[in-house]
Amino acid sequence: MVDYFNSKELLIDGISKLQFSKIPTPELDARILLSYAINHQDIIYMHNDISISKNEKNKFYDYLNKRIQGKPVSRILGSRNFWKKDFLINKYTLDPRQDSEVIVDIVTKTYSNSNKHIQILDLGAGSGCIGLSIIDDLKNSSLLSLDICKQALEQVNINAKRLNLSKKLHYAQINWFEKTWIQNIKLITEKEKLFSKNKFDIIVCNPPYIKSSEIKKLQIEVKNYDPLISLDGGIDGYDSYKAIFKDLSKLLLNNGVCFVEIGYDMLEYIKIILKESNLNLIKVYKDFQGHSRVIQIS
Ligand SMILES: C[S@@+](CC[C@H](N)C(=O)[O-])C[C@H]1O[C@@H](n2cnc3c(N)ncnc32)[C@H](O)[C@@H]1O
Repeated sequence: MVDYFNSKELLIDGISKLQFSKIPTPELDARILLSYAINHQDIIYMHNDISISKNEKNKFYDYLNKRIQGKPVSRILGSRNFWKKDFLINKYTLDPRQDSEVIVDIVTKTYSNSNKHIQILDLGAGSGCIGLSIIDDLKNSSLLSLDICKQALEQVNINAKRLNLSKKLHYAQINWFEKTWIQNIKLITEKEKLFSKNKFDIIVCNPPYIKSSEIKKLQIEVKNYDPLISLDGGIDGYDSYKAIFKDLSKLLLNNGVCFVEIGYDMLEYIKIILKESNLNLIKVYKDFQGHSRVIQIS
């Protein structure tokens, strides 16, 4: 005999369990997790009267337990909505953040009317969310996605396939702390037919920028689930900026621009690194909370 349960009763129970464990958004999380457990297309509401099988109920309680232990909803689902699409994530990729949509917003608005082919470089691609979102919107474009982590690049490839963007993408492993990293990129652009120029119109980058000593103070959802390499910016948080900015001009076309995400309190020291690297700060963009979040440089 199969037991059936009512969605409303399960939701009420799930919400109270999450509330008891002080999960910040208990109602939304319970609704998303129940929808996922029953494979429901849309997020279910309290008024929905859906019968749930025992197997589905068990899945729901399993997800609730994971959430209570600190696993983010996106990690349980294995995907995160970013800009206009869902991106699959794995344990090697950063969980895409809403703040990073600022770069996509600026680039897609600035270049939406461009007729020429746009060559884009995504440094530290992670799940691919920034670069792939841009080439999804800018039809006449190609993308080189780079990361130190092979398993992250595999996820970029999977996301590109799902979004039907594989033909516009090339991806490769690089480490911007290696002396030859710029040279390695040039070798790729020389060989790859996707790239007619060996420099880029647009470079986007969201590097790791948390101070090493701050990582242990981050919330469980971040420190236990985002890969350390995607967070750790070194002793003062600026290691990746220093390495990337040093020779960045060798990768930018004359009228090319680079958009880089920065920590909310990093702008003043970033200005000094830019000066030392002979780069110009063109504009600073705020995030949705009003913090300086993205710099445009050339
Ligand atoms: C903050 S995450 C950003 C991921 C993705 N772009 C996003 O916004 O969700 C930084 C990324 O840089 C990569 N990374 C860290 N150190 C690197 C290095 N030395 N060379 C190349 N990539 C690196 C990490 O693997 C990670 O995917």
